[in-house]
Amino acid sequence: MKIAVVGTGYVGLVTGTCFAETGNHVTCVDIDRNKIEALQKGITPIYEPGLEVLLARNIKEERIAFTDNLKEAVEEAVVIFLALPTPSDQDGSADLKYVLQVAEQLGDLITSYKVVVNKSTVPVGTSEKVAAVLSKKIAPELFDVVSNPEFLREGVAVEDFLKPERVVVGTRSEKATKIMADLYNPFVRQGNPIYFMDPRSAEMTKYAANSFLAMKISFMNEIANLCERTGANVDWVRMGIGSDHRIGKRFLFPGIGYGGSCFPKDVLALNLTAREHEYDFQLLQSVLTVNKHQKKVIVQKIKRHFKDALQGKRFAIWGLAFKPETDDIRDAPSLEIIEALLNEGATLNVYDPVAMENVRGRFGNRITYSANQYEALDGADALLILTEWSEFRNPDFDKMKDLLKTHTIFDGRNVYALDKMEELNFHYESIGRAVINNKA
Ligand code: UDX
Repeated sequence: MKIAVVGTGYVGLVTGTCFAETGNHVTCVDIDRNKIEALQKGITPIYEPGLEVLLARNIKEERIAFTDNLKEAVEEAVVIFLALPTPSDQDGSADLKYVLQVAEQLGDLITSYKVVVNKSTVPVGTSEKVAAVLSKKIAPELFDVVSNPEFLREGVAVEDFLKPERVVVGTRSEKATKIMADLYNPFVRQGNPIYFMDPRSAEMTKYAANSFLAMKISFMNEIANLCERTGANVDWVRMGIGSDHRIGKRFLFPGIGYGGSCFPKDVLALNLTAREHEYDFQLLQSVLTVNKHQKKVIVQKIKRHFKDALQGKRFAIWGLAFKPETDDIRDAPSLEIIEALLNEGATLNVYDPVAMENVRGRFGNRITYSANQYEALDGADALLILTEWSEFRNPDFDKMKDLLKTHTIFDGRNVYALDKMEELNFHYESIGRAVINNKA
């Protein structure tokens, strides 16, 4: 099948590459010429495990091409995916300007039947808006608009796309249903469901999924805070409740608050949709409040330990990305934590395996960047762990002790076992667990 993917961001690129991998001919379009030129050479602008290998293979086989010419991409395509950014407006609502702009342009270009598929996370009712824009210029039999939200997790996006737990397609058109079923068949052959539903339900499904997961994390963050105050250990509580299959083991890890490009944005947007419909979504508002608070918890711990005197203190930070296996720092809790510590007069030396350049773009020379995880520790009053990268799990603790001025760790991701920290005699504070070797 011939496919066009408009927007070569994270979602567009993974979608285009994976559809090429199953034999389709994909043309990816972007207005950013530099990006297109890099992609033509197989260089991806994002770090995503497995993507570059697949991309190189499909470029070689000529199943995927990149252009900045929308007309060229759309001409032969039967399915056009819109994978465009929907940034948060000032009030938190999703800004549809890019989606609707491209819809306008498509109105001038479409001359034969096309399925226009919205992959971006968009408020309920957007399919109809896109259809309305197209209808101004082209006959209704020349297009169908479909909502097909993505559920890709950064860091495992390729795997998620190739082996999805489910595919959600929102359309009322039989013709579009058939085309979408053919397209996704290779990915759901193992029996994973593909749900066909109306577009509004598909759009709501995406928001409901992300908001539910954000709620699950926020609930655990609150349980963790309560564990600290009651002397319980959240590790045990997490395992104790997670083995109830109605609750499930995943997404119960407390930490420094959820971040990334989806949860923060989607929870805000759904809350706004609720407000627009005069519905007071209290649970969701609490999720927002809890997450805002959780990003400050580690800073409060540090301030308590150093008796509010952070002026001139030096901290090493391991991990900046909003989660491991990505260089994405959008809405990463690390950003707020860094800002808060700088405001207190602390000096910061940071390290992340892949997100350093993105953080440099944001903080410039206000912080110091280390070439490796140990360099960051040199002379530091404490180490902060903000992303649970694998390489932080089994470090050379003796070397760490030699480098750190005081043997103190604030672990925002519960990376280490308490008995290990006890044995190594670190002052160790984590989330929802007892303070170890309290040297305050
Ligand atoms: C998410 C959704 O999972 C995905 O389905 C959707 O399409 C896009 O948004 P992503 O943002 O890539 O994916 O990351 P995810 O792995 O879901 O983690 C989101 C945030 O929650 C991270 O900041 C992570 O650190 C945090 N998290 C996750 C926790 O704090 N605890 C957990 O137990 C799980």
